[in-house]
Amino acid sequence: MMRNTQPEPWRVKVVEPIRRIDRSAREESLSRAGYNIFGIASEDIYIDLLSDSGTSAMSDAQWGGLMRGDESYAGGRNYYRFEETIRSIFGLPHVIPTHQGRVAENLLFSTVLKPGEIVPNNTHFDTTRANVEANGGVALDFVIPEGREPRTRHPFKGNMDLVRLEKCLAENRGRVPLVMLTLTNNSGGGQPVSLENVRGTSEVCRRHGVPLIIDACRFAENAWFIKQREKGQESRGVGEIVREVFSLADGCTMSAKKDGLANIGGFLALRNETWVERLKNKLILIEGFPTYGGLAGRDLEAIAIGLEEVLHEDYLAFRIGQVTAFGEALSAAGVPVVEPIGGHAVYVDARAFAPHLPPEQYPAEALTIALYLEGGIRAVEIGGVMFGKPDPARPGREILPDLDLVRLAVPRRVYTNTHLEYVAEVTARLRATPERLRGVRIVHQAPLLRHFTARFELL
Ligand SMILES: Cc1ncc(COP(=O)(O)O)c(C=O)c1O
Repeated sequence: MMRNTQPEPWRVKVVEPIRRIDRSAREESLSRAGYNIFGIASEDIYIDLLSDSGTSAMSDAQWGGLMRGDESYAGGRNYYRFEETIRSIFGLPHVIPTHQGRVAENLLFSTVLKPGEIVPNNTHFDTTRANVEANGGVALDFVIPEGREPRTRHPFKGNMDLVRLEKCLAENRGRVPLVMLTLTNNSGGGQPVSLENVRGTSEVCRRHGVPLIIDACRFAENAWFIKQREKGQESRGVGEIVREVFSLADGCTMSAKKDGLANIGGFLALRNETWVERLKNKLILIEGFPTYGGLAGRDLEAIAIGLEEVLHEDYLAFRIGQVTAFGEALSAAGVPVVEPIGGHAVYVDARAFAPHLPPEQYPAEALTIALYLEGGIRAVEIGGVMFGKPDPARPGREILPDLDLVRLAVPRRVYTNTHLEYVAEVTARLRATPERLRGVRIVHQAPLLRHFTARFELL
């Protein structure tokens, strides 16, 4: 049983039917997809934990906001509300809307980064890394050592290693155009960054005259962890914590598909004007006029409302409580999970789950397949399929990552505790008989980002 002591701070007004097709239909659907869960139609999925991005349920206020969309080409009223909301939450005056987070990253790096320059981060999310590298930059990850160990407990495993950051800035004077800090650290298991660490990162950046830009995707979830776990922060409001965090930065990139509680959208917000004109000129080229930036007026309205709703503390208590209770239920059933449980997802250690499968047989892909076959559940592999690279020293073999994880990402306001209890039960059943999991062999792959389209054969 899941022990989420926080009840939902909403009641249900609209329902979207989901169905669990029977096992033989699931087998057929999976085999048609080449055993890759990305290839399965969402109608054939019962519980979809593929991503927390863009999958939120909007509130009645957000749906109402859609009707107030002003679709004028320039100067639409929803933009001004969007801008005002971002200014008041983050205290950043220059607001540039984009249609999702990676476009904010693309705009930023294609404008301020020169080939050969370095961008440090606690851990780059894959689109952030790709945008740095596509512009000729070098993306470096400086998360604290605890952040790399799945079972080490630390309240802020997303923290930046300030010693390594300091050393990097001192050794590369003039070659670091900005430092990024990702809240929460998605690629490191959704682990939070403490306020003290944001202060420290900001202080190192200021001393070296380098701007600090926050990846704000999960800014509210991060602030909730600060309130819960950081000494001296427990009696502050989440909004106040957010305001202090961003007062320490020079700007942020944001995907509103996470803590914007919207299905699409993003923005770039900056404290000073230096880069703004160049960014807006490029925005016009790739997204649209600066008062809509690739979004409809109605989307801007829904995001502005979502950014306010996400700071409601009863919402955050339920949200983080639900993900934590889900992770604890799995752990209590003997499922090896990354600890402590992060903000938006639970990560299962697939090598420990199915020790009979060697890394070369992609155990996390095997578990992902088994979850679908057993219960119609969609999760995602974050392991050898996603990160494996050909080994130049051993033809036909691969350099595999240290971990094979399965991420169970929890969409916001979408699934009830009962849904997640069902997922925990199915996973526990598989854990009781792990030898049922079959490894896979890749029979087709693309040269880049192969995990999206690879096809597999069961071993
Ligand atoms: C930390 C982080 N940064 C950036 C992005 C990119 O955002 P988007 O998918 O809206 O382009 C994501 C998306 O998952 C993310 O988790």
